Amino acid sequence: MTSRYFDIYDSWKADPESFWMKAAKGIDWSTPPTRAFDADLGVYGRWFPDAVGNTCYNCVDRHADRDRPGQAAIIYDSPITGTKRSISFTELQQDVSALGAILLNHGVAVGDRVVIYMPMVPEAVVAMLACARIGAIHSVVFGGFAANELAKRIDACQPKIVISASCGIEPNRIVEYKPLLDEAIEIADHKPSACLIVQREQATATMIDGRDFDYGKELGEAKALGRTSDCVPLKATDPLYILYTSGTTGQPKGVVRDVGGHMVAVNWSMSAIYDMAPGDVFWAASDVGWVVGHSYIVYAPLLRGCTTLLFEGKPVGTPDPGTFWRIIEEHKVAALFTAPTAFRAIKKEDPKGKYLEDYDISSLRTLFLAGERADPDTISWAEDRLGVPVIDHWWQTETGWAIAGNPVGLGRLPVKKGSPSVPMPGYDVQVLDDEGHAVGAGTLGNIVVKLPLPPSCLPTLWRADERFQEAYLAEFPGFYKTGDAGYVDDDGYLFIMSRTDDIINVAGHRLSTGAMEEAIANHPDVAECAVVGVNDTVKGQLPMGFLILNSGVDRANATIEMEVIKLVRETIGPVAAFKSVATVSRLPKTRSGKILRATMQKIANEETFPVPATIDDPAILDEIAAVLKAN
Ligand code: COA
Ligand code: AMP
Repeated sequence: MTSRYFDIYDSWKADPESFWMKAAKGIDWSTPPTRAFDADLGVYGRWFPDAVGNTCYNCVDRHADRDRPGQAAIIYDSPITGTKRSISFTELQQDVSALGAILLNHGVAVGDRVVIYMPMVPEAVVAMLACARIGAIHSVVFGGFAANELAKRIDACQPKIVISASCGIEPNRIVEYKPLLDEAIEIADHKPSACLIVQREQATATMIDGRDFDYGKELGEAKALGRTSDCVPLKATDPLYILYTSGTTGQPKGVVRDVGGHMVAVNWSMSAIYDMAPGDVFWAASDVGWVVGHSYIVYAPLLRGCTTLLFEGKPVGTPDPGTFWRIIEEHKVAALFTAPTAFRAIKKEDPKGKYLEDYDISSLRTLFLAGERADPDTISWAEDRLGVPVIDHWWQTETGWAIAGNPVGLGRLPVKKGSPSVPMPGYDVQVLDDEGHAVGAGTLGNIVVKLPLPPSCLPTLWRADERFQEAYLAEFPGFYKTGDAGYVDDDGYLFIMSRTDDIINVAGHRLSTGAMEEAIANHPDVAECAVVGVNDTVKGQLPMGFLILNSGVDRANATIEMEVIKLVRETIGPVAAFKSVATVSRLPKTRSGKILRATMQKIANEETFPVPATIDDPAILDEIAAVLKAN
């Protein structure tokens, strides 16, 4: 089939207003929009300024009340606990409505924030939807973050209540969440008035009298009493959620997602990009703590009337590298969306794909990859083994959906391995040099998006318009700075090559090396430090720390290095995967004292590099190389 992509992209460019008004018809509004965009509102404009609606209604109630009451909304498959559960749209509606009533009872009102710190269990999805139902703004925090990071987010968004669970389960251990939550609340200046805790049998949490409430008990009672909550009509420009993501400092950025634009864009993406019809089973193997989980485990599949698969496990080790294939066969998954790192992990354990022989994965139509660059080797391996198209697409927490992709639902374009293909409608992507001039095809530069950003993209950062302006809009006036560097080829395909800031990508997780440096700097024996990303065959990148110790420190380097590793794990969390560190006597710097991290990264990755003209003392580069060799 010839792709309709070019016609559709051109039609958007010619008349964005009509394009998005048409897409808005996929949503059931209380008050439909009369116009798509108002350039005079907000920092750069706002989408659907006069529309009113509710995201939970569109994800749950319209399906439960009309066409698909008995269809599975969620299939929960947890090889790590040996549990499987199917939840119909009607059952989901009952749970979400009852939880909404419980939240109201705890005094949560429209616009209040609710922090959700949960493992991959259905209650996490129910919690998000219940917030959306009553107009509370959720902020989900990934379970792999430590108490300190959770505390930062609690202080930043000031939740009325926190919804959490007694534990998460990792292959090598049970992670007790409740002590981490208690510690975070202890550290934070802001104190939530209540915590709703899902008690899991693998580890029961000790509850604090008067503050902590048992989620299961409260839900059971509310349902027995027939307590329900209504879907509150919200302005399309109201916030649906805040999701904190790594910035260039230790202070995470609170990405705001609005109610209306988000529904319109991600609903459009389900058919146009992912080619999903209502009733199809869609599986995003990510975590609800990340943006992929928000958009494609929870909201987009449910908006479209698909069944979403909620997977609590890992691609390998739960119990083996055949888990993905077992799930595809058992639940008739039509599309799988994950990070390339998951496939690299499977490929490492089962290079010949022998586990595939035991399963029938014929329901699978497409594999979508995102979160990091999909390397051509991984794409080829997956194509050869799975026999389906493998589609890379590029996006960010800030956008909530693909900036560039290969829209399978509009007719697939030829795949160029190493490229996430072409800009999606809504995105006018350009490549600029550091002075803001457009560069030609094939030339590396800063990737930017011409304003306005399309629906679903962040209108601002939570209560921080100025930081939003400064971080994203100031450097290239009229454009949104993605923070990624790359180029466009002669056919208009994008190639995303690296970040322009200190963010690294570890197993598809976005992490700030600046935040790790801030944590390390708290060690009493460390005078100075630098963290860079080192290439890794499975995780893409891994952080590596370099330390300069205070003069007079006479304890063994190895002891201090172990303490630093522990410090980062305790301050940021195990997700930082910070396990390698070296002590050096000097760090390479420019004459003005800036640490040359990019050059250190190149040395660590054994890449060739020009010696920076501004370097203070080139001999230090050899010292770093020698230390790395010895490690
Ligand atoms: N709660 C607590 N700890 C967690 C956690 C959670 N929700 N998630 C991860 N961790 C811990 C892990 O146990 C690990 O701890 P360890 O140092 O004690 O081993 C550490 O954080 C690093 O986790 P991770 O980066 O996930 O590494 P891993 O070795 O456990 O698994 C992969 C590697 C590639 C299999 C896994 O990252 C994966 O499946 N990634 C693909 C999907 C994905 O996450 N995509 C995200 C964006 S699309
Ligand atoms: P996150 O906000 O966690 O989704 O991370 C977004 C960042 O991940 C992007 O800015 C890129 O640096 C990187 N990224 C995500 N998807 C891709 C992709 N398909 N190709 C290259 N880089 C990607």
